[in-house]
Amino acid sequence: MRRWVAIALVVWTATILLHIPARGQSGQPILGGPLPGLRPQEFAEFRMGLDDFLEVETAEDGLGPAYNGTSCAGCHNVPAIGGGGVILEVRAAYRESTGAIRGLNDVGDTLIHMLSVPTHGCQAQLPDDVNVLARRAPIPLFGAGLVEAIPDETVLALEDPFDLNGDGVSGRAALVVDAASGVRRVGRFGWKAQHATLLAFGADAYRNEMGITNELFPQEYAFGVGEERMRVCDPTPDPEDKPDPATRRRGIDNFESFMRFLAPVPRGRVDDRTQEGERVFAAIGCGSCHVPVLTTGPNTNPLFNGRPVPLFSDLLLHDIGTGDGIRQESAEPTEVRTPALWGLRFRRPLLHDGSAVTILDAIERHRNEAELAERAFARLAPEERDALLAFLRSL
Ligand code: HEC
Ligand code: HEC
Repeated sequence: MRRWVAIALVVWTATILLHIPARGQSGQPILGGPLPGLRPQEFAEFRMGLDDFLEVETAEDGLGPAYNGTSCAGCHNVPAIGGGGVILEVRAAYRESTGAIRGLNDVGDTLIHMLSVPTHGCQAQLPDDVNVLARRAPIPLFGAGLVEAIPDETVLALEDPFDLNGDGVSGRAALVVDAASGVRRVGRFGWKAQHATLLAFGADAYRNEMGITNELFPQEYAFGVGEERMRVCDPTPDPEDKPDPATRRRGIDNFESFMRFLAPVPRGRVDDRTQEGERVFAAIGCGSCHVPVLTTGPNTNPLFNGRPVPLFSDLLLHDIGTGDGIRQESAEPTEVRTPALWGLRFRRPLLHDGSAVTILDAIERHRNEAELAERAFARLAPEERDALLAFLRSL
């Protein structure tokens, strides 16, 4: 019965969502809607993707045994499906007496699940001797397809790991092996820039957040649940994400399509004050990391071919003194990838761990590589500071 209610709810939400046009009256894309100009086939893929992104999974579908949410949309829904939210996930690690950081197992996993399928009794437990605990806030997915289409070379060209230009900023690209292609790429998705492609991130999330194994991540991960116990906890054979017999698409293909074709948040109102704020933003060095625009490479799809992407990020890893003590892929425990600032006006909480409530809180936490910019910010005249904040609130 409960299942039917859930299905009805999904169908109802989807019906409402699917009737929204791609553009508002001003010609701007609508929040949570597709990129304007999709071809009919692409629009169909976006819709299938949205359906799967909303679908509430159950134990019969392979959910769990340990998981953090029952649907992607459960955590990515503010201010529209595909956005962020206030559910923070938990990560843990060991800090050795030498200061070295070690993950929970041989392969360096750090995720601790918050939930488990109740009847299976396979809840992960935090080991007694864990001494690093971290939280992570969801990242909105608006415009993710454009971010994916930015060439690796563009990000590499922004690197300055040894601060040769002496501006105090020493960002570096996260080199990762893309789980989707096996190719070494520049990571750009996630707070640690741990994935290079949306297919890989979606597959990772399906396994790690929901416990649904798939062709890219075929093995269950539930920290604290041993192999033998796992057979009882999770009787469903892996991989659990099977291609749909009608469309031959896997769930992970559908997530990819939804995220790829999801439009960016349209820019808010621009006026004299926000323009003055944008000038201040550049003048005090915020733009050294929050690079205003990157451009997508040559692409056979016109939607992604040589398009400007006003994301306000260099997609590089930096140490601004907020590091969470977790090592992940190529990111050090002190490093975090510069978050994009487009859509900032809809984003709360801020920083990787959701520990900043306001934009001002977030700025005041910048140190180390961002020390000079933060000091310049602190010295701004009140009207310059207000203009800067007005600009940030217009993104
Ligand atoms: C329990 C909450 C939760 C669920 C469920 C969830 N996510 Fe996320 N999502 C997060 C968090 C937290 C992050 C940031 C994680 C990190 O960087 O380590 C994130 C980040 C992402 C990113 C990176 C975006 C970027 O621009 O860097 C993608 C892509 C993503 N999620 C896709 C998905 C998909 C697809 C699903 C469903 C299969 C999903 N998520 C389910 C919480 C969730
Ligand atoms: C050295 C690179 C660097 C510089 C310079 C820099 N930032 Fe950041 N910024 C970051 C990183 C990295 C984070 C994420 C830190 C975290 O989550 O722990 C961040 C986070 C933020 C956030 C929160 C965004 C979110 O989604 O959580 C805001 C707002 C922000 N920066 C604004 C600014 C402003 C304004 C300036 C100029 C005064 C500035 N930044 C200068 C790297 C930088």
